[in-house]
Amino acid sequence: MPLVSMRQLLDEAARGGYGVGAFNVNNMEQIQAIMEAARETASPVIIQASRGARSYTNDRFLWHLMQAAVELYPEIPVSLHLDHGNEPATCISAIDLGFTSVMMDGSLEGDGKTPASFEYNVAVTKEVVDYAHARGVTVEGEIGTLGGIEDGHGSGEVHLTDPDEAVAFVHETGVDALAVAFGTSHGAYKFAQEPTGEVLKMDLIEEIHRRLPDTHLVMHGSSSVPPELVAQVNKYGGALKPAWGVPVKEIQLGIQNGVRKINVDTDSRLAVTGAIRKVFAESPEKFDPRDYLKPARAAMQELIAARMRDFGQAGHAGDYEALSLEEMREGYAAAAAAA
Ligand code: G3H
Ligand code: 13P
Ligand code: ZN
Repeated sequence: MPLVSMRQLLDEAARGGYGVGAFNVNNMEQIQAIMEAARETASPVIIQASRGARSYTNDRFLWHLMQAAVELYPEIPVSLHLDHGNEPATCISAIDLGFTSVMMDGSLEGDGKTPASFEYNVAVTKEVVDYAHARGVTVEGEIGTLGGIEDGHGSGEVHLTDPDEAVAFVHETGVDALAVAFGTSHGAYKFAQEPTGEVLKMDLIEEIHRRLPDTHLVMHGSSSVPPELVAQVNKYGGALKPAWGVPVKEIQLGIQNGVRKINVDTDSRLAVTGAIRKVFAESPEKFDPRDYLKPARAAMQELIAARMRDFGQAGHAGDYEALSLEEMREGYAAAAAAA
């Protein structure tokens, strides 16, 4: 099937009471790992590319790799999503390329670092919603800011999502999905110890879901940073500090409270790096890239398949037929006319 609207994927997830992992990619092996995991577990899936990924792949490679993915895995509903679009032009170029979903992250200014005002966020997000919905494309917005700057995203300041602002933001912009800040951050170093309710504010998610029951909530910074993956990287020459990620059981609690999209990148990076380091350390005579990229791809597939089962999306690939973007456009237009 062709690339599917993320809104449809998340509407179906809400109906089925499960979450859908959104996994970052930068190259062919990562796309293959995700698609193989989706086939293995019969899962619908979101593949997402950041601005950095688009520049690394030069857009055209990314686009054609994704065409290969939908051609080779016709039974898997898959959305192509722009992660952390920094300004309307970035989102518009992704939509024009064929992305079926974009994130307009107006919680930060165009530099991707400076916290933005509510008014700025509403203005840029609304501009993207108007452009995207006229083409049947989904939009994710963000209210509040995550902590952490190690991957270059964010200001380093945490601003937990204010539920009143979240409600006003959704009503003023019409976004399909909303990323909320409740204590996570991007990267491998989220918490110094196992997170408690003091640092990971699951009650905030519960409240936002209660007040916005029809908005799909998005959890950024959802890597669990499994100790065994960190240990493998370090065992074979890496130098990662001890770190805690988001426990899977907390993500599952979020899913029970309206979280439908779960962003994971760091865990994939750890799986890939650990597998490559192992080959380099154990077989220093090897120099064929396939000797280390194959185990890297397999390690990422294993991780993603586990997350697909954890999030509940496993087994749901065959539940529905894909709606076309034209059908999605008509749905948005009908909803706007009825409002
Ligand atoms: O949120 C950030 C993602 O992990 C993507 O990171 O901008 O380094 O590609 P990136
Ligand atoms: P992690 O760094 O926890 O994998 O989060 C990724 C993310 O939120 C991408 O937008
Ligand atoms: Zn993110």
